Amino acid sequence: MKTSLYFKSKILFLSIVAAQNYPDANATADITLLCESMPFMAGCSVMTACSGKSDAFCKPFSILSDICAADMPRMNDCTNYRVRCNITGTGDKNVPANPIALLGNTNDAQCKSELPLPSLPSSKSLSSQVSSICSEMNMSGCEKCKNTGSTYMDCNLLEVYSFLCKSMPDMKQCGEWKSLCAATPTLSFCPSSSGSEESEGPPAMKMFFHSGFADYVLFESKYKKLVLSFILLTFTEWVPRNALQYWLSNLALFVLAIFYEGLSTYLILLEAKWSKFNKAAACYPYRLSTAAGFPSSSSTTFPHSGIRIALTRFLFKFVLTTLGYALMLVTMTFNIAMYFSVVLGFAFGTLIFGGLSKRTRMESTSDPAEEKISACC
Ligand SMILES: *[C@@H]1O[C@H](CO)[C@@H](O)[C@H](O)[C@H]1NC(C)=O
Ligand SMILES: *[C@@H]1O[C@H](CO)[C@@H](O)[C@H](O)[C@H]1NC(C)=O
Ligand SMILES: *[C@@H]1O[C@H](CO)[C@@H](O)[C@H](O)[C@H]1NC(C)=O
Repeated sequence: MKTSLYFKSKILFLSIVAAQNYPDANATADITLLCESMPFMAGCSVMTACSGKSDAFCKPFSILSDICAADMPRMNDCTNYRVRCNITGTGDKNVPANPIALLGNTNDAQCKSELPLPSLPSSKSLSSQVSSICSEMNMSGCEKCKNTGSTYMDCNLLEVYSFLCKSMPDMKQCGEWKSLCAATPTLSFCPSSSGSEESEGPPAMKMFFHSGFADYVLFESKYKKLVLSFILLTFTEWVPRNALQYWLSNLALFVLAIFYEGLSTYLILLEAKWSKFNKAAACYPYRLSTAAGFPSSSSTTFPHSGIRIALTRFLFKFVLTTLGYALMLVTMTFNIAMYFSVVLGFAFGTLIFGGLSKRTRMESTSDPAEEKISACC
């Protein structure tokens, strides 16, 4: 008797809870009012993206929870949701990876099942990420969100943020986007969702000669990504934003190109020196008696052991190639001034160091001791 009563009351309790579902019409009405007063909220972006879709996260109650659970629980039209689901937070928080943690001690089945999107960033966070990305580089998409100086930029924040992150997923500001998409890959804001793929294209890389300050100096584009990921680590922040930075960048490129020429010349000089000593080493027995020009102690005559030479060569080649290819990539920004900074740097470098290496080569072949040795060998 007792047990059947218990089950009866339990069934009664469950049916009451089921009957208490917050009607879709009420949830939709709440969302409409909320998004009228603050259209930039992440939940409003989800609602827009959900039109005509039937995913679980598109249910009205779920969208209401996107807005009212962590982002803006204090808004007036969130009262019904907040009371029902026992939300105690003060807002401006990202939804945690496990959204159920947001709910207080609620018995409401709907609250527990129609949850907000896991890892959905708060509107405040979205606004600061977009502002941070766009102040670092003026990418296409940035023009949609003007920085007005208020806490929230007034635009479709989640959409712009995802658009920027789709173009440059490796930016440090895109961590929250990655978490969101890892939790719900079918969101239209995520790269793997169908229909969202690349219709809007990567940021404008101008692949023709042009002028203008803002260019991604050694920054990744879709196509150069693999080649550049190594160099990226060093140069991520190198995007000139105004005339002064732009010309300083050009000056730096010019100097780097000259440095490159200097370094290659130095390597040529070293090679000449090594070959001289190698020849001397080959003629060692003969040289002792005839070539008086050389010091006679063997330790000072042959300081360049094979392994040291090989190591030095390796290091030089490494630095030279890194620098050379990096400069090549800079010319591939197709920015006229940057292009000619590099080219002029190489030209001036040859002007300065070219004579030096030639003279050394001539000296080394006209060296009388060298001639004697050449004659011997
Ligand atoms: C839903 O909205 C209707 C009409 O505004 C209202 O009468 C009803 O009480 C609401 N239901 C809940 C559960 O708030
Ligand atoms: C809401 O949750 C808190 C603890 O998180 C609990 O103390 C309180 O009783 C709950 N209120 C309701 C109405 O369930
Ligand atoms: C960013 O680029 C857009 C168009 O490409 C331009 O209208 C806008 O003034 C630029 N903003 C800044 C801050 O440079």
